[in-house]
Amino acid sequence: MPIRRLLYTSESRLKPAALTVEQQVAAIARQAAARNSEVGITGLLVFVEGQFIQILEGDSDTVEATFERICCDFRHAQVKLVDLVAVKERLFDGWDLALMCEGEDSGSPLDEDLRNVRYLLGINARVAVERMHEYLLGRSDMPFTPAGQGEQLPG
Ligand SMILES: Cc1cc2nc3c(=O)[nH]c(=O)nc-3n(C[C@H](O)[C@H](O)[C@H](O)COP(=O)(O)O)c2cc1C
Repeated sequence: MPIRRLLYTSESRLKPAALTVEQQVAAIARQAAARNSEVGITGLLVFVEGQFIQILEGDSDTVEATFERICCDFRHAQVKLVDLVAVKERLFDGWDLALMCEGEDSGSPLDEDLRNVRYLLGINARVAVERMHEYLLGRSDMPFTPAGQGEQLPG
């Protein structure tokens, strides 16, 4: 079955409340991962400096339906479709929705990588996707890697 990979960016509308913004992002990702797992979507959610970057992979209709729901979500705005391509295989196979969230330590190498990837998005979306995939593989503290095994990881 042909696979579609969709990439979009958006601006967060989350405000700190009982939960911090980062905790709210983690909750969004957790719920989204559960739903994605039910419908066969895989992907990545990046949160950096108030901006979301998300990659969704799956069959064409499911990716489209998921993106339509996401577009209506009031927790973010200015949703911009950056890239939608047919691919032979999934890059994020095994991740219902991996999350990479900017940490509190603004000097961390991951934060720098994530900020830099935003500039790549507008120049070469495909390379930006590959770069994000590399960052993901380089991390050892992923909460959702691989699908269904998150609870075996410490923390
Ligand atoms: C930044 C962001 C990313 C999201 N990613 C997904 C996702 O990958 N899959 C998904 O089903 N919902 C995702 N959601 C949640 C959807 O927008 C929506 O709230 C959820 O699917 C429930 O939709 P429903 O109430 O129409 O059933 C995301 C929301 C936000 C704000």
